Amino acid sequence: MIGTAQNGVAISITGLGGHVPERVVTNDELSQRMDTSDEWIMERTGIRERRIAADDEALSDLCLPAAEQALEQAGVDAASIDLIVVATVTPDMAFPSTGALLADQLGAPDAAAYDLSAGCTGFMYAIAQAYGMLAGGLASRALVIGGDVLSKIMDWTDRSTSVLFGDGVGAVVLERVPKGGFLGFELGADGSGGPELYLPAGGSRAPVTAETVAQGQHFVKMNGREVFKFATRVLVSSANQLLAKCGLTVSDVDVYVPHQANVRIIDYAVQKLGIPPERVVVNVDRYGNTSSGSIPLALVDAEADGRLRAGELVLMTGMGAGLTWGSGLIEWTNGGTR
Ligand code: ACO
Repeated sequence: MIGTAQNGVAISITGLGGHVPERVVTNDELSQRMDTSDEWIMERTGIRERRIAADDEALSDLCLPAAEQALEQAGVDAASIDLIVVATVTPDMAFPSTGALLADQLGAPDAAAYDLSAGCTGFMYAIAQAYGMLAGGLASRALVIGGDVLSKIMDWTDRSTSVLFGDGVGAVVLERVPKGGFLGFELGADGSGGPELYLPAGGSRAPVTAETVAQGQHFVKMNGREVFKFATRVLVSSANQLLAKCGLTVSDVDVYVPHQANVRIIDYAVQKLGIPPERVVVNVDRYGNTSSGSIPLALVDAEADGRLRAGELVLMTGMGAGLTWGSGLIEWTNGGTR
């Protein structure tokens, strides 16, 4: 799917928020638990440390402060939100949705609220969907949250996968603005690649039983090499397609926010696309791959560093389980409604 903003439709991010668990787990700490080292992890991934949720910390516990921050920054009341989308593969439970739980916790009784599953691309899918609802007049003010607590479904004896991920959540408020905002989206999915990154048990195909648990089927399974190849391919193709559709080129991009999976994947895409490294936002070194939390958390960091200025063109691309991918292009507005 690819599309650009229609004439006269200006919808932008008017508030940003993020939240990560308090506990920092360094590579050295992991190397005390499994056969790995800071050197291996740094060289192959660029990850130095990640945040890991406490035993009693669920996704909604991370979503709530991130959402409150985004609402505060946008200067809007939770009660005025009429759409809440939570992009995640680690909801508090299969149902009710974390979106519905949050609507209650925040005090947003008029909001349609639900979860969306598109792997690490979830945030890009969710933001495109909320954009569409706002553009179509179904909703007027949306809260879009991307986040995961992957540590809860990680096999901590699998060194090839567990060292890559971390927990975290980012949230944005989306509203109509006088001008600027999103210029377009490109989203896609290739389900034939599903087995490269999946959670075998816990769905209707293989409900959880003592046997699936004994076999560790409730943990993430990933073919790292295949995902690496896929990721490097789609980061480049999705960005190029979207830029072309918008009548722009890479040289127009002021800030590039790729999914924070791995520094090597980011470096490859940056080099292929020809984006100057100083325009790239990277925080995977501090958080690891936070799945749907990755892009909004990177936006939060970029804003804190003064890198998101009104009028600048920000390109975001995510990719992940599905296999899925998605890009969005936005002319940053620094809020924009007031
Ligand atoms: N510590 C030490 N050694 C390790 C570790 C570790 N944590 N993990 C694997 N190794 C070993 C392997 O066993 C292998 O040893 P062997 O040669 O004796 O068999 C060796 O290191 C090399 O393994 P490779 O898998 O070939 O290493 P590679 O260079 O491909 O890097 C990695 C592996 C980092 C997983 C890479 O494939 C990758 O980044 N893939 C993408 C993963 C990813 O980002 N997924 C998520 C993206 S989508 C989403 O966000 C959901």
